[in-house]
Amino acid sequence: MDGNGRWARQRGEERVFGHSHGVESVRACVEAAAENGVRYLSLFAFSEENWGRPESEVNTLMGLMLKAIADEVDNLKKQGVRFRALGDMGRLEPHLVEAIKGAEDYTATPPGVEPVLDLIVFLSYSGKWDILQAARRLAADYASNPSAMSEAGADELASRLVTAGIPDPDLIIRTSGESRLSNFLLWQAAYSEFLFVDTLWPDFGKKDFRSALEEYSKRDRRYGKVK
Ligand code: IPE
Ligand code: MG
Repeated sequence: MDGNGRWARQRGEERVFGHSHGVESVRACVEAAAENGVRYLSLFAFSEENWGRPESEVNTLMGLMLKAIADEVDNLKKQGVRFRALGDMGRLEPHLVEAIKGAEDYTATPPGVEPVLDLIVFLSYSGKWDILQAARRLAADYASNPSAMSEAGADELASRLVTAGIPDPDLIIRTSGESRLSNFLLWQAAYSEFLFVDTLWPDFGKKDFRSALEEYSKRDRRYGKVK
């Protein structure tokens, strides 16, 4: 979700104005995803690198996250959306972690009941961090049996990523005209389709989401094989 700052600047406003409008795009995309049969929607909300922004902007973003959770959690539950947040939670303020846990528990479905949509918000996340923490856990798990480590396959590492159990993304959309992955799901994006659009995130609505799905439906995924 990129382009909030530029969207605000274009209107002669502070960057935070763009971030608060960005929340409306999130709401629209969650609805569009649920309406169009998307089973998992992942949002890159705050990267590990974003901690390097001015403290006031970081605080605003965290405050917006807290407010969005409080405002939207009932609506999400009503739509059958299960909320989850993934990332380096240890870096977040305890009250935000508590709110996240509360929303995760509140929107969780009973065993055997599939949610309509899994909404996964990546917070304080980076792809390199994820691979590193998975590698560390893998090494720790094999510490008593190092010779077995050489047999460990890719699935052994994947099952220790924070996304364990979540399918790899079929489509990754980046807004605002930037054409890079910026340390998002590095491992998981191995065979994802990419869509780069010029639209700034606060302008990205249901129509744009549907167009992205339409574009995805035209892609020919061969996974390195021939058809
Ligand atoms: C995306 O908008 C929001 C976050 C990264 C948290 P930006 O804040 O990156 O907006 P630009 O790129 O400066 O326009
Ligand atoms: Mg940006």
